[in-house]
Amino acid sequence: METLGIDIGGSGIKGAPVDISTGTLLAERHRIPTPEPSEPNAIAEVVAQIVHHFNWSGPIGCTMPTIVRHGVVESAANIDQSWIGTDAQALFQQTTHCPTIVINDADAAGIAEMQFGAGRGQDGLVIMLTLGTGIGSALFIKGILVPNTELGHLEIRGKDAELRASDRARQEKELTWEKWAERLNEYFQRVEYLFSPDLFIIGGGISKKSSKFLPLITIRTPIVTAQLLNDAGIVGAAMAAQAVTSP
Ligand code: BGC
Repeated sequence: METLGIDIGGSGIKGAPVDISTGTLLAERHRIPTPEPSEPNAIAEVVAQIVHHFNWSGPIGCTMPTIVRHGVVESAANIDQSWIGTDAQALFQQTTHCPTIVINDADAAGIAEMQFGAGRGQDGLVIMLTLGTGIGSALFIKGILVPNTELGHLEIRGKDAELRASDRARQEKELTWEKWAERLNEYFQRVEYLFSPDLFIIGGGISKKSSKFLPLITIRTPIVTAQLLNDAGIVGAAMAAQAVTSP
């Protein structure tokens, strides 16, 4: 079955049609920079452009870098504040005329990794952490997602964890890999202590460079990198869109 997956991020909005039985993209992904300010109508316009680009008329799955409950955005750490309280699902449906599902970006990436990537066959407690502009989390127990966990906002040394340990923090503070790994280690230790997971999966663009920082991480829990890299959000969004086609 084919659905369109759209991954809405802080810097870019990317989409592609996906064969959700195999997790493969059916066309080259189309990327449009995230508008500034990233207000609801401006983003909805870009979502519609991606739909037109693929001449799409079927179900759509979209991610948002926010808490999303029943289609409604309930937080806005790295996106315009005017999103809070917006029914993203209704808005995108209105602008695209396609049946739409909206879910959190890390949850989408996690769904894709559990089905087609590093989480395949893992039925204990698995936590995926995405390291990017923020820190996203997706928690699975026996393969079932517990949505909107928001573990990037745990407090470490009196600060939001993502402000200390996200990839953006590494870049903005010009941290060496060693310094960043120290912060990550402290963060992973906290999550490990609170949840005792069986496996951590590390995603986000920086997971491609995991050889620079994962060897410096000393937690007990096995830790692996995501396999779908940049496509995990698109694939997971497309998988979530299946729900709008089922009765
Ligand atoms: C947001 C999460 C999101 C993560 C990654 C955090 O700031 O609160 O909802 O999953 O960034 O984009």
